[in-house]
Amino acid sequence: MTTKTLFVTGGAGFIGSALVRQLIAETDWRIINIDKLTYAGNLESLATVADDPRHIFSRADICDRAALDALFAQHQPDGVMHLAAESHVDRSIHGPGDFIQTNMVGTFTLLEAARGYWGQLDQEHRRSFRFHHISTDEVFGSLGEDGAFNEATAYDPRSPYSASKAASDHLVRAWHHTYGLPVVVTNCSNNYGPYHFPEKLIPLMILNALAGKPLPIYGKGDNVRDWLYVDDHARALRTVFEQGRVGETYCVGGNAERTNMQVVDALCTLLDELAPRQDRLGYATQKTFVADRPGHDKRYAIDAGKLRRELGWSPRESFDSGLRKTVQWYLTNPAWVAHVQSGEYQQWLDRHYQPGATA
Ligand code: NAD
Ligand code: DAU
Repeated sequence: MTTKTLFVTGGAGFIGSALVRQLIAETDWRIINIDKLTYAGNLESLATVADDPRHIFSRADICDRAALDALFAQHQPDGVMHLAAESHVDRSIHGPGDFIQTNMVGTFTLLEAARGYWGQLDQEHRRSFRFHHISTDEVFGSLGEDGAFNEATAYDPRSPYSASKAASDHLVRAWHHTYGLPVVVTNCSNNYGPYHFPEKLIPLMILNALAGKPLPIYGKGDNVRDWLYVDDHARALRTVFEQGRVGETYCVGGNAERTNMQVVDALCTLLDELAPRQDRLGYATQKTFVADRPGHDKRYAIDAGKLRRELGWSPRESFDSGLRKTVQWYLTNPAWVAHVQSGEYQQWLDRHYQPGATA
């Protein structure tokens, strides 16, 4: 007997897979993992839970209403944690269409499917049901030298990615105010950790360094991000899902602001210690300045005080401890990295999984 059945969308991605691994390890919940398996979704990130009967994977697109209706009818979930999204800012600049489709149309489709299901539940289950929308601090725009985003900060998204996430946040809140759907929303800062797709700053720098390639730093390297270890984010998500007040938003962050240059230098120092170059030159010699990202947001920082005060969450990892764990993970998991980089995984996937297939 399990106490809860939960839908997790995007559970084969970076944060979603960390959340699924944590929920399977630390709860008795049954997790229905709904993921389209785009380039960013990877079943190899779920290898440790693949054989657990409480983890049920279903390859489905959140834009597919019929597939979602069938999943709701079949599994009768107690809630939804919605992480599925197109997530990379650079990709959104080169091709915004998928971002509009998944982040906006997909969230709308999921909300409608959830509303249809929720509407026919009995009163007790209608009250206890939760739709948890997982969003980003990028919806708030860009900060100057001082201050931090909080739950009252006005929206000011500036990239196709952040605009599409902002739109999805507005839809979720509208479904609460208009239809009464019991929602909670979280807006989190930059995550890092194991199983991170190597298009994002930290895994890209680690793997380029090890491959002897340039470390491409946008602009002057003085843009600032506020970093949070992915398992701490997953723990925050569970806290808000279980204890968050309906209709409320919670900002999540690691209180670990760093310039991109500081991040790259910290990675180079760790790699010099853990996997020194054969020629003994430091990895920092591979740093290269490249053209800036168009519309590059200058600084993000999160004030997570509400989550800390009201729900008692705080991160367990410091930036130093989390970064060390992350570098060590990439050094000890070359097979995962090789599959992601070679496209071998995608070929395996195409042979084994069709949309709608349940594992
Ligand atoms: P990711 O790109 O690693 O994973 C996204 C997952 O969604 C993938 O498994 C992908 O296959 C799946 N997906 C994409 N389109 C889909 C669709 N149409 N239907 C079903 N599944 C689909 O992303 P991530 O970094 O794990 O981010 C997860 C969520 O957290 C996103 O909503 C993102 O906006 C948010 N977020 C990310 C960060 C961060 O630093 N990575 C910070 C704050 C918030
Ligand atoms: O703030 C939360 C967001 O963090 C999430 O919503 C996004 O899904 C996630 O991708 C992340 O967005 P960023 O754009 O901040 O992450 P990214 O890793 O792409 O870049 C981090 C910083 O590093 C940013 O200032 C751009 C810079 N950068 C990035 C890459 C890939 C470089 O200088 N060089 C690079 O090659």
